[in-house]
Amino acid sequence: MKPKELNIIYKGDCSILLADKSLFPDKSINLIVTSPPYADKRKNSYQGVNSDKYVEWFLPISDQLIRILKDNGSFILNIKEHPSNGERETYVLELILEMKKQGWFWIEEYCWYKKNSFPGKWPNRFRDSWERCLHFTKKKDFAMYQDAVKVPIGDWAEKRFKSMSENDFIRHISKNNTHLGRNVSNWLNKKKVYPHNVLVFEEEHRLYLGNVVETAADTSHKNHSAIFPLELPTWFIRLFSKENDAVLDPFLGSGTTAVAALLHKRKYIGIELKTEYFSEAQKNICEVEKIMKKNSNKI
Ligand SMILES: C[S@@+](CC[C@H](N)C(=O)[O-])C[C@H]1O[C@@H](n2cnc3c(N)ncnc32)[C@H](O)[C@@H]1O
Repeated sequence: MKPKELNIIYKGDCSILLADKSLFPDKSINLIVTSPPYADKRKNSYQGVNSDKYVEWFLPISDQLIRILKDNGSFILNIKEHPSNGERETYVLELILEMKKQGWFWIEEYCWYKKNSFPGKWPNRFRDSWERCLHFTKKKDFAMYQDAVKVPIGDWAEKRFKSMSENDFIRHISKNNTHLGRNVSNWLNKKKVYPHNVLVFEEEHRLYLGNVVETAADTSHKNHSAIFPLELPTWFIRLFSKENDAVLDPFLGSGTTAVAALLHKRKYIGIELKTEYFSEAQKNICEVEKIMKKNSNKI
């Protein structure tokens, strides 16, 4: 099945719109990438949900998401619990457990390292420089295009390959018997390797008022207080979808996921509750569409 329309964004409450089977038929979406409002914290900037009620609020939404996701699809949930009363909140952990009961497999937790996190001093912790990107699926066998996110092998290789021992050419039991040593020679002459699960983006760009992209530092407090960088949904879109697949963000904000999908020739669908962010998303998407059209006319 296909969604009623692709390359479209809806203004409204995703807890209502997602339940509309004519818009979102069963098993119609390949990938969901989203960052919902975190509990309480940002109450002034957009709809906040109390941490005690967060799981209760989110479960009907994830119930619709599991319905509309294709069997081989993936759901990436970007979220991070804030500290409260001197300790970390636990609602994200509780949510994971409840979503597993709903039928989701919790496959992986990617850690997004935020190089630009705000410096400061806290009495009982250091600055928070990472966020969770939880990977959920409906089956353990799902679509994953690992070659699309390979990274340069890095400087370590040059040094390591200069001093190869006999053991580096076979798979062997390590000296302390604790693990199987790797055949290092497998990496010889390789320029690219698979990445690890900590996401560090050299540069982070955010969308801003139809100006397509600016650096994070320039835009972080302008139109939307919780925009994620274009690089974040892009990475997951390349890893878990292919061209023409349908990518959904039910908490679209300024449209970052839709723009990333568009730039990678995927179809986007988004939902945003607030009029100002909806308009912002429209502007951003429209701007990118214009640029892409102009570029394709040149070819
Ligand atoms: C963390 S922000 C997403 C930011 C987005 N990733 C970006 O890069 O701009 C969450 C967004 O969800 C929206 N939102 C909150 N509750 C919603 C709901 N029930 N349905 C749809 N959108 C909602 C908020 O207005 C906010 O723009």
